[in-house]
Amino acid sequence: MERTLAIVKPDAFAAGHAGRILARIYQEGFNVVGMKKLFLSEKQAAGFYHVHESKPFFDDLKGFMSSGPCLVMVLESDGAIRKWRDLMGATNPSDAGAGTLRKEFGTSLGRNAVHGSDAPETAAFEVGYFFSGLELL
Ligand code: CMP
Repeated sequence: MERTLAIVKPDAFAAGHAGRILARIYQEGFNVVGMKKLFLSEKQAAGFYHVHESKPFFDDLKGFMSSGPCLVMVLESDGAIRKWRDLMGATNPSDAGAGTLRKEFGTSLGRNAVHGSDAPETAAFEVGYFFSGLELL
């Protein structure tokens, strides 16, 4: 079994899509081992996305991710990292395939509804950023 971090971002949360996204997560067979609603500060958002701090879109990204509440989850399944990325679809919603969450709920590259870890090392950092071991028993 593998674990990955998933976020319903502030755009999708504010639009009331969290319930439908969670329903898809259960339909696809993930086990939700951790879940919390958070309203990140800009500093907390910057720390989470620290790998992007030299990118031109970093200021917009941290501003957006601290613009409203989001839903942060730890998903577990066989091959959870790949499986969640497949369900999300391409980073840019206009490139995302039919039936993916970003196609359905994303509106732009920056406002793309959901986040997922991209590799085992990233998942370990991202899960640990938001959840303690005791919260994931
Ligand atoms: P996410 O998968 O959460 O990881 C970093 C985010 O930066 C990405 O989704 C996009 O929403 C956002 N982003 C904004 N601009 C860009 C860009 N030009 N290239 C990649 N990601 C971008």
